[in-house]
Amino acid sequence: MKIHRAENYQEMSRAAANMVLDQISKKNNSVLGLATGSTPIGMYEYLIELYNKGDIDFSETRTVNLDEYVGLSRDNPQSYNYFMHEKFFRHVNISKENIYIPDGADTDTEKVCKDYEKIIENIGGIDLQILGIGTDGHIGFNEPGEAFIPSTHVVTLAESTIISNKRFFDDKKDVPKKAITIGIKTIFQAKKIVLLASGSGKAAILQKALLWPITPGIPASILQLHSDCTIIGDEDALYLL
Ligand code: GLP
Repeated sequence: MKIHRAENYQEMSRAAANMVLDQISKKNNSVLGLATGSTPIGMYEYLIELYNKGDIDFSETRTVNLDEYVGLSRDNPQSYNYFMHEKFFRHVNISKENIYIPDGADTDTEKVCKDYEKIIENIGGIDLQILGIGTDGHIGFNEPGEAFIPSTHVVTLAESTIISNKRFFDDKKDVPKKAITIGIKTIFQAKKIVLLASGSGKAAILQKALLWPITPGIPASILQLHSDCTIIGDEDALYLL
């Protein structure tokens, strides 16, 4: 596992965007595994900048998002689908048919999960997976538990996740209680993984995830075993490492 110490949020975001640039330059039809949350927003901004300068072309790129809230339709401003279009997709030349995000509004969640697994398999798996980390150590929405859940599944969100994510909603009670997330095996099978972390609020969990024994109680700890995983963090997030 490599640790890239960035001076600040901007540098972290730039370093992550450059890894995406490198990936797309080597293979223009790469499958990017994409994340939501506050952390990758700066990376998306740099990617848009690179696109506007003509340095990157997403016309062949496929994208697979990590997760989506159950019960939110794609036009709901709190959905991850909406987030991705607002923060990234609508600003670049990614084709609509190459964007994959689980449908949170479909009530047949079991089928959504099965189909999503199939989609990822059919497009050949993920080349570069971008991750954030939850304050409880979740990646995607794989919450701490008794076991690592391998494939796409419905998860009941931990209370700490609901509290962390309520900042995006008018009220805590509006935060969905469930989400669909790709599983740990699918994330782990990505050829390359980049985990982004910013701010002192992530320092303690990063220390546990990277230095403590691997356990499903800290889902991100599995990344210790990955052969090509880079942690890009700013000073505040990495100060305990
Ligand atoms: C959400 C997402 C995760 C993300 C995490 C951290 O729960 N499902 O993919 O990594 O939040 O978010 P933030 O970057 O806002 O701290």
